Amino acid sequence: MEQYAIKGGSPLVGEVEIGGAKNAALPILAASVMTDETVYIDNIPDVRDTNVLLNAMENVGVMVKRTDRHKITINASNINSLVVEDDNIKKIRASYYLLGALLGKYKHAEVALPGGCDIGCRAIDQHIKGFRALGAEVCIEYGLIKASAGKLSGSHIYMDVVSVGATINIMMAATMAEGMTIIENAAKEPHVVDVANFLNSMGANIKGAGTDVIRIKGVSRLHSTEYTIIPDQIEAGTFMFAAAITKGDVMVKNVIPKHLESITAKLLEIGCEVEEADDCVRVVSSKPLVHTHVKTLPYPGFPTDMQPQITVALALSKGTSIVTESIFENRFKYVDELTRMGANIKVEGNTAIIDGVAKYTGASISAPDLRAGAALVLAALSAEGYTTVDDIRYIERGYEDFHLKLQSLGAQIELIETERDFQKFKLKTG
Ligand code: UD1
Repeated sequence: MEQYAIKGGSPLVGEVEIGGAKNAALPILAASVMTDETVYIDNIPDVRDTNVLLNAMENVGVMVKRTDRHKITINASNINSLVVEDDNIKKIRASYYLLGALLGKYKHAEVALPGGCDIGCRAIDQHIKGFRALGAEVCIEYGLIKASAGKLSGSHIYMDVVSVGATINIMMAATMAEGMTIIENAAKEPHVVDVANFLNSMGANIKGAGTDVIRIKGVSRLHSTEYTIIPDQIEAGTFMFAAAITKGDVMVKNVIPKHLESITAKLLEIGCEVEEADDCVRVVSSKPLVHTHVKTLPYPGFPTDMQPQITVALALSKGTSIVTESIFENRFKYVDELTRMGANIKVEGNTAIIDGVAKYTGASISAPDLRAGAALVLAALSAEGYTTVDDIRYIERGYEDFHLKLQSLGAQIELIETERDFQKFKLKTG
């Protein structure tokens, strides 16, 4: 089984290019089945989650052609089934986007219940509430969510919790409903806006994405488009924190600095320098890091998907920090692994109380989920000695060429399969 072998201690220095946003790509790929015309999408990250979704789409007859690593042509005019249940699709959270897309276009969809990272209860009640409000009948049977409607009609929907997935899913279905839908208390994440822009480029009529009220006037058909996905806010944030944690100097390129404001603000608070230009940010960490407090919140708050990365930094920062996780209740599972590397963190409910230590030391650890896995790699890069990170398949779900990008910044990290590979790595880097 593949692992990362890491020798810590080298500051990361150099430039890194950020790819397309996974969490925008997934709904955009799903939404591309809503037209019979050909859709051209650029800047798709080549990561496991997008590839699983594309395979599932191919399995129901969607033509998917990769014209280069990040460009895909999709034609869904020959869909032959509205039942999506291949073995892999249940493992990704975003499988539910096919529900909104197929329900909108064909008024019927059956999709395997979503999985995704085990970071807490991941309810889908708000998705179901939205589909029902549009006139669909929804039930869960034999591991599938089934949604069906004679016709979809616009509705006024108030979301009880701010949910990225439910906002996007309802927006997709409502795009092809009759009349006006208003989603109140909508999620405002950049990827919600990107999906709305994509749908509008196909002829949808969506206004207000990026605010908490989205208005969607249904249209009867969507057409071909060419679209480029926005840069990945979380991949960018991860490399920004990589600079902070390793005492490095990293220019993070191809980003939208506005999307990174909450991350930049926290880096400044803990003592890093951050320089912003049009489409890049440079993070320099030359002073000892200092403590701060942070609470995860829906956008524009500090993202829950950056919580493990900031915790890894705060556990190396002078003083006591408090991290409060307000989105997912089970998102501190990696703390045990970090403790084995020397961190001093106490978790009480959704709060981590962190007493900064001077350094981490290498250990043999496992990635418990996607973002925590990446954060543990950052800890290992700053640690004294050698670390192996197991279960890196989680990291590969959302980071393209993670170890190669880190290597290009001077990190001593390699993919290994056997103990012998690890010994060779040690000889090479010793
Ligand atoms: C998406 C992202 C994930 C990110 C999260 C929050 C994808 C594939 N995943 O997940 O990386 O961490 O946004 O930014 O894009 N909730 C309900 N009922 C629902 C839906 C959600 O109670 O029907 C709750 C969830 O349990 C959670 C909160 O709402 O506490 C936010 O979840 P949501 O924004 O829906 O996250 P996802 O779309 O699953």
